[in-house]
Amino acid sequence: MDHFKNPKNMGELDNPSAIGEAGNPVCGDITYIYIKVGEKNGEEFLEDIKFQTFGCAAAIATSSILTELAKGKKLQTASRITREDIAAALDGLPEAKMHCSNLASDGLRDAINKYEAKKKTKVDSF
Ligand code: FES
Repeated sequence: MDHFKNPKNMGELDNPSAIGEAGNPVCGDITYIYIKVGEKNGEEFLEDIKFQTFGCAAAIATSSILTELAKGKKLQTASRITREDIAAALDGLPEAKMHCSNLASDGLRDAINKYEAKKKTKVDSF
């Protein structure tokens, strides 16, 4: 409830490295995940992350906790965060609401994939 009433890291990032998107066609809810990638000791990590969720209470709470789980993590590690990890961090979600946590984890994976694709395009264009 705290992550729904007082969501953490909500909003947009200025100059994000990438913006991920995930939607649920059944309910129409949608989440955008903004990431800023930094580099430390030669490894890329999530320097900052924010979200915008237009959806149900569970979608907002799961997006909020996802940003806390992912912030500061290496990209590889962050991309492996599952909806089960998110539910566990919230001390569980009702089974009927488990699908709502897909928005957050899928949105983050989409952001990381877009970032990787953008990087590859830059390298290929040289
Ligand atoms: Fe749509 Fe929760 S009901 S994401």
